[in-house]
Amino acid sequence: MKPAAPVAIVAAMHEELRALLDAMPDERRVVRGGRAFYAGHLEGREVVAVLSGIGKVAAATTATLAIEAFGAGAVLFTGVAGGVGEGVRVGDVVVADALLQHDMDASPLFPRYEVPLTGRAAFPADAAMSGRLAAAAAAVLADAGELIGREHLAPFGIEAPRLHRGLVASGDRFVSGAAESRALCAALAQAGHLPLAVEMEGAALAQVCHDFGVPFAVLRTISDRADDSAHVDFLAFIREVASRYAAAIVRRFVAATGG
Ligand code: ADE
Repeated sequence: MKPAAPVAIVAAMHEELRALLDAMPDERRVVRGGRAFYAGHLEGREVVAVLSGIGKVAAATTATLAIEAFGAGAVLFTGVAGGVGEGVRVGDVVVADALLQHDMDASPLFPRYEVPLTGRAAFPADAAMSGRLAAAAAAVLADAGELIGREHLAPFGIEAPRLHRGLVASGDRFVSGAAESRALCAALAQAGHLPLAVEMEGAALAQVCHDFGVPFAVLRTISDRADDSAHVDFLAFIREVASRYAAAIVRRFVAATGG
């Protein structure tokens, strides 16, 4: 990463972006491609914060603009996800090691899940950035009761949130059924992929960052188990828990980022 280049912080939900903007003293709002980008400082580090919107196209457009129009030298995505891996519970955090599109299927021309003409299904996140992000997440989770507030965690049954690292699967679908989630995971497992979480943006951002040679990392707070009750309390969870996690973890991450 170029030392002077800003870190793009891409949030999926308005509440998460709001929590970050509250911690930026000097942001300047610039609209591009129908999105508001906020260029300024967070923890003394140059950043550009932006709301991606939901879905793979929105994420790809946002990442492209962050890199091309705002000169981002690294991209950090923060959002929520449905936990599908064993032991991945509501209130846990997943830092992606790699991301794939679970709805990419150009078979029989290309193997299922492979992005045609790239020769790969999973796009690895930057190891150094993800390591720093995981360290920041671990520190916040270890002290979640104090840093986030027990009164915000208790209504969602969150007691001892854990950090997980591994594969994240993205697709243009909110997975909201146990049978749907099982079928999706079984098909992925057949191809040798074992996701911890499902969401709707990460793999698109990963592909764009790979195309531009820009390092990236993805942080996901688990808001649901991608089952029949996935939609219950979703917005309340983002407001009460995920936005607080995001602000605490991203601020720590940025503070630990050199340049
Ligand atoms: N983001 C949060 N929960 C999700 C789910 N169940 N499916 C897709 N994206 C999500």
